Amino acid sequence: MALLNVDKVSKHFGGLVANHEVSFEVDQNEVVGLIGPNGAGKTTLFNCIAGYHALTSGTVRFNGADISQLKDYQVARLGLARTFQIFEASGDLSVVDNVMVGSFMHTGSRGEARRLARDTLEFLGIAETARSMMTELPVAAQKRVALATALASQPKLLLLDEVGAGLNPSEIEGLINLLQRIHREKGIALLLTEHVLEMVMAMSHRVIVLESGQKIAEGEPAEVVKDPEVVRAYLGDHYVKRQAKEDGDA
Ligand SMILES: Nc1ncnc2c1ncn2[C@@H]1O[C@H](COP(=O)(O)OP(=O)(O)OP(=O)(O)O)[C@@H](O)[C@H]1O
Ligand SMILES: [Mg+2]
Repeated sequence: MALLNVDKVSKHFGGLVANHEVSFEVDQNEVVGLIGPNGAGKTTLFNCIAGYHALTSGTVRFNGADISQLKDYQVARLGLARTFQIFEASGDLSVVDNVMVGSFMHTGSRGEARRLARDTLEFLGIAETARSMMTELPVAAQKRVALATALASQPKLLLLDEVGAGLNPSEIEGLINLLQRIHREKGIALLLTEHVLEMVMAMSHRVIVLESGQKIAEGEPAEVVKDPEVVRAYLGDHYVKRQAKEDGDA
């Protein structure tokens, strides 16, 4: 049984069809990439899965349970966590308090929540920021705390919405290593949207491509990038030629 099963999920905003009958699965041991042009419906699909949007139609199952009708906090308690594409630090919270918001999804005990938060900051290599106020941190560090908050809820599946956006190549490399540790050492399945294609391709076992709300392709990264539909809809010749050159140089 798949950990996550998305079955014919549609989401309409009035007349706008943001997701149309999207189906796919994510297994417990998988890293799956979700790519597609701006406005393809990636964030909307995350919002549907994580209980932030009511579905127009379709079903989402997680760990054997139908979560289609559940609210965001109920989904989070079941072990499905997410990060936000647009992250806004809440003013008055310290880093550790912010991360505890995540740990409280897992435990009702304040002491346990604090311990989990500190362990998570340690795991992410940012323990020294624990007492800082969120608003004092640079944006990249705030995003790392947002990741810590999601992780502190001890999820089985983590949805990552463009965590690589705005990072430079060496920061991207650091992030890839970190996410791979999260996957391997904590056994957490990852579903990630990303325009930084090098990151998706390096990390994903499987890639799903959305265009105009519909799934147009699914497969191993090396196969998907060669799919003419995907090249037309998203990658363009540029990416394909650059990859061919890199392969030739290697
Ligand atoms: N709350 C909303 N109300 C109305 N329309 C929305 C809402 N959220 C998203 N949309 C529309 O749904 C479509 C899909 O948007 P979405 O943000 O899911 O795309 P995306 O693939 O995440 O894009 P990007 O790569 O730019 O992040 C867009 O046309 C968007 O304008
Ligand atoms: Mg988005």
